[in-house]
Amino acid sequence: MGKIKRIGVLTSGGDAPGMNAAIRAVTRTAIYYDLEVIGIRHGYQGLINANFKPLKAFSVSDIIQRGGTILKTARSEEFRTPEGRQKAYLNLKEAGIDGVVCIGGDGTFTGAGIFSEEYDTPFVGVPGTIDNDIYGTDYTIGYDTALNTVIEAVDKIRDTASAHNRMFFVEVMGAEAGFIALNSGIATGAEAIIIPEIKGEARNLKALIESGNKRKKSSNIIIVAEGDEEGGAIAIANKLKDDFTDYDVRVSVLGHLQRGGSPSAVDRVNASRLGHAAVEALLDDQKSVMVGLQNDTIVLVPFRKAIKLNKTISPSLLELANILSI
Ligand code: F6P
Repeated sequence: MGKIKRIGVLTSGGDAPGMNAAIRAVTRTAIYYDLEVIGIRHGYQGLINANFKPLKAFSVSDIIQRGGTILKTARSEEFRTPEGRQKAYLNLKEAGIDGVVCIGGDGTFTGAGIFSEEYDTPFVGVPGTIDNDIYGTDYTIGYDTALNTVIEAVDKIRDTASAHNRMFFVEVMGAEAGFIALNSGIATGAEAIIIPEIKGEARNLKALIESGNKRKKSSNIIIVAEGDEEGGAIAIANKLKDDFTDYDVRVSVLGHLQRGGSPSAVDRVNASRLGHAAVEALLDDQKSVMVGLQNDTIVLVPFRKAIKLNKTISPSLLELANILSI
């Protein structure tokens, strides 16, 4: 301890419910350890533009329950360039910031990893993305809330689908990952789940729905992750419409409503634990690591692993989804 006197905190990439709870935990933990805290606005772009504001304990009052991020977020193209990162470093030095907590996903940790190889300011990451696609942590902040938002929406769609004997293709977020699709599918009793990790599923749909038809199902819900190989729910629905003439087919794309809203209890608690752990990691001279949760325990995962390795979908969950949707 002793080297770090002032830390910066930023949120970057897609916002996720619980980011505010993490900012609060970082700020208040730092103050508890007599550190100064600087909020960096608009992610890495705010580092480049020196868009800084000091955070006090009261600055983070009344935010634990709010979605979005009080620090704003962005995906900075300039930070991808050596010139942009140099500007960021000079601003960090001028502001006397000795370490940074970055809250975000893959892109955020990739940026932090590159920066840390070039410059000496330590960065510690907190996983925050609704996609839950970060290797090394069982949960990312925002995933649980997004999942619950999807479940609420699909339950409502099921009511109207059953009333009309309709087939719904519901598209959920997840450009490269099917965690939201798979788990919302299990939780809503979806008839089928199409995710980027499993190829060829869309082609099996016809047989699957026909077997459900034989048992006189009054509705069918097919959850599609936006990044599936066929190009999303609209593309799949269009391809299969003619195969399902008994059904009126509809498509519902849930979109960005999945990113908003008040964070769930799970996300608030995880964000509080991870934000707290990130500050302690900086004080322990850690750098280029993400704090994560594995089996309910805080762990440190090097950025290079968090970025490079893929978090895999559990085959047993997929099997479960298939068994329960017969
Ligand atoms: O990474 C979070 C996420 O919500 C993805 O699920 C989605 O593909 C992407 O961000 C959407 O990004 P944007 O808000 O820039 O459209």
